Amino acid sequence: MKQAAALILAALPVLAAAGDALEAPLAAAGDAQRGRGVFVQREQGHCVICHAVAGMVPAGNVGPALDGVGARLTVAQLRQRVVDITQVKPDAAMPAFLRRDGLNRVAAAYAGRTLLDAQQVEDIVAFLAGLK
Ligand code: HEC
Repeated sequence: MKQAAALILAALPVLAAAGDALEAPLAAAGDAQRGRGVFVQREQGHCVICHAVAGMVPAGNVGPALDGVGARLTVAQLRQRVVDITQVKPDAAMPAFLRRDGLNRVAAAYAGRTLLDAQQVEDIVAFLAGLK
């Protein structure tokens, strides 16, 4: 019993860190233009396969269109969704782009490694924040 309580207490900081928003930047200030590139490139984010943004092809429809997302969500909320959207919606059909462990719904080749690095996440967040 005591041991279980200690385990639960040890896990608390992690739980507190999870949630709707990730306030702390993960790398240097994001560059929206670079982020746009990561957003469309197949070998990087390839977000366009699932999301539509006006003027971009392809315009996927697995996820919601992201026009106006920079007005709907704060930078910290955008960061959380790109890093690991399952912290917001546990059953979201979108891969966690910066979570090393427990990845599911991604091709086996991606298992155990992050899909984007921290700077790419910040760049994408800067791009999304500009979609107003
Ligand atoms: C496999 C398809 C898929 C890919 C690839 C994908 N997403 Fe998503 N995304 C989704 C789905 C589905 C949702 C909606 C989740 C929900 O609300 O249940 C979503 C939600 C979002 C949201 C929240 C939108 C809102 O209005 O709440 C953002 C922001 C987002 N995605 C950004 C990205 C970015 C940036 C990338 C690329 C790095 C990306 N997505 C790649 C499927 C995808």
